[in-house]
Amino acid sequence: MWRMPDVPPTLPWLIRIPEIFGEVVPDVVRQLASPCCTKLGHEYYLIRPADSGALRQVAASMFIRWNMPVQHSWPCRPRAMDGFVEKAAQTMARKFASAQPQMVLIGVLDASSTDTYYRKLASNLRGRALQLFPAAALPPPEVEAQDPGAATLFCLLGHEGLFCGLQSPRLANGFYPGGTRFFSQNTPDTISRAGAKVAEALHYLCLHRSPPPPPAHWLELGASPGGMTSELLARGYRVTAVDRAALHPRLAAAPGLTYACGDAAAFRPPAGTRYDAILSDMNGPASDSLAAVLRLSKYLVPGGLVIFTLKTAGVSGNAEVERLCAAVTARAASGGLQRLAQTHLTYNRHEFTLLFEKLGGAHSKPRSDTSSSSQPR
Ligand SMILES: C[S@@+](CC[C@H](N)C(=O)[O-])C[C@H]1O[C@@H](n2cnc3c(N)ncnc32)[C@H](O)[C@@H]1O
Repeated sequence: MWRMPDVPPTLPWLIRIPEIFGEVVPDVVRQLASPCCTKLGHEYYLIRPADSGALRQVAASMFIRWNMPVQHSWPCRPRAMDGFVEKAAQTMARKFASAQPQMVLIGVLDASSTDTYYRKLASNLRGRALQLFPAAALPPPEVEAQDPGAATLFCLLGHEGLFCGLQSPRLANGFYPGGTRFFSQNTPDTISRAGAKVAEALHYLCLHRSPPPPPAHWLELGASPGGMTSELLARGYRVTAVDRAALHPRLAAAPGLTYACGDAAAFRPPAGTRYDAILSDMNGPASDSLAAVLRLSKYLVPGGLVIFTLKTAGVSGNAEVERLCAAVTARAASGGLQRLAQTHLTYNRHEFTLLFEKLGGAHSKPRSDTSSSSQPR
């Protein structure tokens, strides 16, 4: 099986820190002991972690949305260059084709830009690169069909040039360059923007394990007005939705839905009920939400999934946020919920998404990566 060669710790690293956390960038760079930090595009930073300890910080930081080692960079002005696509594709093939990445994916450094030039250039470059890579690098039909533990050639492109590196989607923390997959928050059926948040969480989950197959039964805590509920129902799941507030009237007679009006702290499932997954999007103190999840996790099947939105309203400073997350993780672990991952999703605001699994299931040990980047996540 192909293994990524050990990456020297002094290699530059491309990290993405969401704009919403702009103020923590100096702290994060300090933690990584990086002597330099160059901003690229919209939310990307080119850093040089001091050593493997600093690289582990990249893995651990809640504020780093996505990352990759930069094994090839071409700082240039692509727009002003003749033959950029051909030269770039030839170099990518020369440097990376023998590694047989499972996929070649090219994104843009400024996804917020309304100028479509670099998007088109990225698409042209990918088309040409794929002609030069061996058949093994031809893309599977879906980006999500990637093996999360195998190396992909990720490339980011912008007016600053081209940056490429081999990284597994799991270590990069996303299947796409930069980690974001677009989910519409505004379809005619949208009840709340939280629908896109749970869609993105289920997409992200595939980096670590498969979602429960429909018609799995979800217990949803803090469901009103029902954006997440409607997304789960649309995927063929059954949902027991608990909230002190009412659900949107459109959900009144939704097949597969049971609504329990009241406080999650007092909710008692009917005798004999077992849930396949719990979803908590309750606002209020994280300790209260977690207490409800832990109490109700005894109704979860072994290996059952928990998607927990960690709300950070009223928590100031990145150190305090990190302490809160560590405390939640430790308390969940002592209650039999092992954390699979934590991240900040595109549709999260001042909150994080934590994934847990109830011990005792087939998935309980996270799969090990087939790549061996020096950065364990
Ligand atoms: C951010 S909203 C949830 C949005 C929802 N997930 C959606 O998809 O539309 C938070 C919800 O948590 C509910 N909530 C907070 N604490 C609760 C508790 N202890 N018991 C029941 N509901 C609670 C609130 O009533 C509120 O509706």
